[in-house]
Amino acid sequence: MSKGKFIVFEGIDGAGKTTHVELLANNLRALGREVSLSAEPTSLESGKAIRRALSGAEKKTECQMAAMFVLDRIAHNTDSEIGIETLTERGTDVISDRYYYSSLAYQGAATDYGWVKAMNVGSPEIRRPDLCIYLDLLPEQSLERISRGRESVEIYENLEKLTLTRNTFLSVIEDLRADGESIYIVDANRTPEQISDDIFNIVKKHLD
Ligand code: TYD
Repeated sequence: MSKGKFIVFEGIDGAGKTTHVELLANNLRALGREVSLSAEPTSLESGKAIRRALSGAEKKTECQMAAMFVLDRIAHNTDSEIGIETLTERGTDVISDRYYYSSLAYQGAATDYGWVKAMNVGSPEIRRPDLCIYLDLLPEQSLERISRGRESVEIYENLEKLTLTRNTFLSVIEDLRADGESIYIVDANRTPEQISDDIFNIVKKHLD
């Protein structure tokens, strides 16, 4: 039995990650593959602590946040039940809504990029994905979608920050591509069907 694939979706807030994680899972299941969906922050204790901090209920410094995301990511990799290692070893594909690209973009911009990169890609307990799909949306388009669909606006969600984050994401992608990672930029300002077809064609090329 071959190992499952570990696929990550990234993008600024409102880019449609949640939708496309699900559409890709359906497409892969239709091929007869086992698929498990996950997200960061995770539903584990380490992820719940991050949610409390993001809501503003527990004040943390930017470096504390960067470290908390690393802790949660290690749990995401190594948890004996829902961990990426366990699942992919069993032959299950894992699709994650966000991964270390988010840390490099958000915490990398807010603290020290080299430090955040080293903690993440340098960790023996944080694996590199088989591929990453970056859903690309302009900050203005993102903000429009966010304000349509949500009532509470989290701390990372304003135009200036979205612009900084998108620019940082694009340079993170360049940097990690130079390390040999497979990262695809998909135009997210189209119909869900067009986007989903594009994504499935990309992913199919990476299946054994
Ligand atoms: P979430 O509610 O999952 O946002 P979305 O539905 O847009 O994915 O909250 C995740 C928030 O956490 C989001 O604002 C980005 C932030 N984040 C980081 O800053 N660093 C990280 O490493 C990760 C995984 C998320």
